[in-house]
Amino acid sequence: MEYPADQIVGFPENFLWGASSSAFQVEGAAEEDGKKLSTVDLNTRRKEGRASSDVAADHYHRFEEDIDLMAEAGFSSYRFSISWPRLIPDGAGAVNQKGVEFYHKLIDGLIARGITPIVTLFHYDLPLALQERYRGWRSRQVIDDFAAYCRLVFTEYGAKVPYFLTLNEQNMQIVYGDWLGLADQGVAEFRQSQWQINHIMNLCHATAVRLCRELAPNAKIGPVPGYVPLYPASPRPEDVLAALNADEVTQKMWLDLWVHGEYSNFQMRYMHDHGTPPEMLLGDTELLASAPVDFIAINNYRSNVAAYCGLDDQSREIGLNKDGVPGQFVYPKHPGVFQQTANPYLKMTDWDWEIDPMGLRFSLRDVHNHYQLPLMITENGFGAHDTLTPDGRVHDQYRIDYLKACIQQVQLAINDGVPVFSYNPWSFTDLISTGNGISKRYGLVYVNRTEDDPLDLARIRKDSFYWYQSVVTSNGRLGLWG
Ligand code: BG6
Repeated sequence: MEYPADQIVGFPENFLWGASSSAFQVEGAAEEDGKKLSTVDLNTRRKEGRASSDVAADHYHRFEEDIDLMAEAGFSSYRFSISWPRLIPDGAGAVNQKGVEFYHKLIDGLIARGITPIVTLFHYDLPLALQERYRGWRSRQVIDDFAAYCRLVFTEYGAKVPYFLTLNEQNMQIVYGDWLGLADQGVAEFRQSQWQINHIMNLCHATAVRLCRELAPNAKIGPVPGYVPLYPASPRPEDVLAALNADEVTQKMWLDLWVHGEYSNFQMRYMHDHGTPPEMLLGDTELLASAPVDFIAINNYRSNVAAYCGLDDQSREIGLNKDGVPGQFVYPKHPGVFQQTANPYLKMTDWDWEIDPMGLRFSLRDVHNHYQLPLMITENGFGAHDTLTPDGRVHDQYRIDYLKACIQQVQLAINDGVPVFSYNPWSFTDLISTGNGISKRYGLVYVNRTEDDPLDLARIRKDSFYWYQSVVTSNGRLGLWG
């Protein structure tokens, strides 16, 4: 739908505006004050020539300065994750009081500044000890250990935090395979066990929802999928069906389960044909069915195109662009299901991500049509090679252009009737990206460091900071349409 300018409703008065981060990407202090390593910490150390999570953006030591800056920007929300191995260094057993205190200070500091904490329980940082003890997500033991961690989180922070998110982008962790170290014995082995890993993650998700109800009854909890609209390559029915397939097997399968509490016939069939279906034990079905969510949080950066892929075609794993030189992305092929292709109508970032603000509105409409739940946006952003110019500024007009177009689309989705209640772009300060160290920057605030030298880690407000500040403080009345 298009609307005449005078018929575009504003953002609701209580709309939550903020930004987003995750522990391993922003905190640093990877082995300090009792914290032990996570699997993803180790993963960042293995990327030669890239900044690791050892220092990251040093938020652990500079969080007061960071939340002062958030207050200056006028934020009413901040989405961040708690690090499991900071709270329970070995994944199970002894609790690290210094870690517990850190998040109390962070949460109290946010609340004191009028900023609502939105807390992710798990953002890729599985305690390394659990990986070494029983291969982490491959063992059902992780469900009990995750439950103990969640119990601690809800008991300590449940009265202060109104919104919790379960496992960040579980769907992408499975779809991308070797992205973050899940495929520790190679992609082929991972593909055979992926549905078992995914099932265990689903049981962890459901366990977290149930514990939240019990221990933090005033808080709301929801999942946070990576959401990528899938457009058909053409009106040819084969391409349209391929897009439907792609949508199902990269995201709806997960959302259906989290919302409806059971695997659909389609999912069972797909899991059977692509790997080994999960082992269902007594009680699993009941647990999954007993954990309906309150809202859905969406991470959206781009859209994809799907085309027909015949059964006799060669299968090909996705290949992410990890150095920011355009043209590196490898489009995956899934014979009999779909293949991903380029979109001739969209420009791409240096990392070959389609630039598609309207895709965000599409995502919001699509998810709300299917699930009829309130929505928040927990990630959306523009990764770029930012430059600190001699005037001491970062002129990131490209990021302003992108975020402005995205927020316009959020406003239009609200006009369409979608109940969106919070927007948190990725990221507040620069932080280390999942595969590209500090070279791929997303922040509204520049962090003065290079890949191999933390320099002074000074915080420098980018042009996008000032622009976003005007949007936030005017509740979207300034900076969007003029
Ligand atoms: C999301 C993740 O998938 O995308 C974040 O939740 C990540 O952790 C973000 O940083 C951007 O991806 P990347 O690969 O550019 O860091």
